[in-house]
Amino acid sequence: MSVEYRRDGAVAVVTLNNPPVNAIGHAVRAGLMEAVDWVETQEGLSRVILTGAGRTFAAGADAREFDAEPVPPHLPDVIARIEASDIPWIAAINGAALGGGCELTLGCRYRIAVPGAQIGLPEVTLGVVPGAGGTQRMPRLVGLKAALDLIASGKPVKATRAVELGLIHGIADDPVELATHLDQGTIELTHRVGAMENPAPEAGAVEAARATAARRTANQVAPQRAIDLVELSTRTPLAEGMATERATFLELRTGDQARALRHIFFAERAAKAPDWLTAEPAETGTVAVVGGGTMGAGIAYALLNAGRSVVLLETDADGVELAKANVEKIVGASLSRGMISDAKADDIRARFTASDDYGAAAGAGLAIEAAFESMEVKKTVFAALEAALPADAILATNTSYLDIDEIAAGTSDPSRVLGLHFFAPAHIMRLLEIVRGKATGNRALATGFALARPLRKIPVLAGVCDGFIGNRILARYREAADTVMMDGSTPWEIDEAMVEFGYAMGPYEAQDLSGLDIAHANRRRQDATRDPNRRYIPIADRMVELGKLGKKTGAGWYRYPGGNGKVDDPIVADLAIEEAHFAGIERRDFTADEIRERLLLAMINEAADILHEGIAANARDIDLVTVFGYGFPRWRGGLMHYADTIGAARIVEKLTALTAEDPLVWRPSPVLVACARDGRSLADAT
Ligand code: COA
Repeated sequence: MSVEYRRDGAVAVVTLNNPPVNAIGHAVRAGLMEAVDWVETQEGLSRVILTGAGRTFAAGADAREFDAEPVPPHLPDVIARIEASDIPWIAAINGAALGGGCELTLGCRYRIAVPGAQIGLPEVTLGVVPGAGGTQRMPRLVGLKAALDLIASGKPVKATRAVELGLIHGIADDPVELATHLDQGTIELTHRVGAMENPAPEAGAVEAARATAARRTANQVAPQRAIDLVELSTRTPLAEGMATERATFLELRTGDQARALRHIFFAERAAKAPDWLTAEPAETGTVAVVGGGTMGAGIAYALLNAGRSVVLLETDADGVELAKANVEKIVGASLSRGMISDAKADDIRARFTASDDYGAAAGAGLAIEAAFESMEVKKTVFAALEAALPADAILATNTSYLDIDEIAAGTSDPSRVLGLHFFAPAHIMRLLEIVRGKATGNRALATGFALARPLRKIPVLAGVCDGFIGNRILARYREAADTVMMDGSTPWEIDEAMVEFGYAMGPYEAQDLSGLDIAHANRRRQDATRDPNRRYIPIADRMVELGKLGKKTGAGWYRYPGGNGKVDDPIVADLAIEEAHFAGIERRDFTADEIRERLLLAMINEAADILHEGIAANARDIDLVTVFGYGFPRWRGGLMHYADTIGAARIVEKLTALTAEDPLVWRPSPVLVACARDGRSLADAT
């Protein structure tokens, strides 16, 4: 039974019981309606206590039902019955009460939560608005401004804040117990939220909420529509506001943005070790991190924050000091942002050591190397790790591009070697590519996946190739951008086109931040193996020759006078004109649509090749990589989900048209061709 109900004297207890998170699907709605009917038949009841089984009160509507037609009973009708009941319902909020879960509590006359409960209306993060009265009851209860904050941001509040807001009446370790003994007079004095007066308009509140939402969730429909609805609550009767809310919810939930956000929500939760990976992971209580630069320090901090002890290995005493300072900098920043407490900071420091003696890491079950990107350096480090660590320790490299098989081949047991590719800043970015070399054993892979959970990373399995999944797509993206620039556009136009698509910044501004030298080193490494027939765009090389390495040198694709915002640099345009002239190219204008189309098609085609070669296991993993590692707009669902909204047939058609310009670069990937032929989506192309 998804909803259980029982009677204990004058008190009835109704329990939502739909593991794992009491999502409110059809069975729960029907069960609740049955419980309401049952309550109405009972004589002598003083109250009904509504609570959840397990750790959650209710995680909201069951988002898996959103693609289908809604089936009655509908949640707003269930809540209306609860609210109208002559016997007061009390919400005993035993854990997260989100979305429809929160709306259920608003239909109750009294709300008590456990101290750790999260309460809120996160619907906009799934591309919809609350659909069961949230936008109308919440402002009546907590006022316009607080409701706007809660609903337009989608951020839940903790129980203490909920009390301050007047959203709940109290906090108790055992809310069912408290609800059972609550004084009857107290309950009966409370009002039905739906019967409360419209919230008073507050000058500027709606405009401020709109501006914040436009900044934080640019291009997203749901937050602005949610604000419309909250605003409506100031001037319409409840029933009218709820009818508009319901219509908006039903309209948005099958829209592109809601589908995309749902896809990412479920993809994120499905990111775990594949079923076939049943090996026991290595013990990782102590981890050795090699290299105390930005990356190594970030990885060390992430591990420390997840309760591991870390031995950071450097080459000499200066390196050790620098590594310590880099880790301490992150500890300090996390403290000042309130992300960790003083006690946690002390605990982190106590579990951290840095040394130039590999012997200090003799007890580590795992090593993560984040040293300089040179095969020679990596081989030396791995030899030293092998000598110092236990014979069964797992040895990981954080390399972005180097051949893991070659690194592994230099060790006596390559099955212990894998890639753990973090993204900078490593303690913040959620993506973790787990790279499986030719010889990587299952125990090594299992260790990588097991570590992802405590680190709160999203693990994605990748095969060995130049750049793995993410950087390989990135390299193709940049190549396509450089080609458009050479043929007539500018970094400014290209960046703007991609920002309009939904990226926080375009490829050139992003490269100015990370530095032009890394991509340059990669191009030099690839010189020996590059297909001589492939068009090569030398503008970035010219930039590096001029010392324009990005923001860190004061200029890259843009200038940054005074270290501030970016300014167009005419030298870059000159270089493009000059190189086009040398190559005999007649430059032309590109529209923003043309720019976007080329850059996106280039990435989609590369990603399809990545699938074809088995470097990624499925399209969903590529979506996770692009969203969580490379700033692809989440509300577009990731690169492959976006590609599926266009359709493989149309993509192949467009790529084929571009082959007239360059048959090598635009040749459609076999996976796309097969999907187009069979009428399949990339999501099904595994
Ligand atoms: N609908 C359908 N399934 C849901 C769900 C929902 N609203 N919320 C969670 N689930 C599923 C997850 O997909 C996961 O399924 P899996 O075990 O098959 O992978 C399972 O419930 C557990 O969820 P998870 O997020 O991994 O658990 P958690 O304990 O870390 O977090 C919550 C619990 C409730 C905080 C979190 O699931 C959450 O935020 N849910 C969404 C809330 C929401 O946005 N509601 C509005 C819906 S319109």
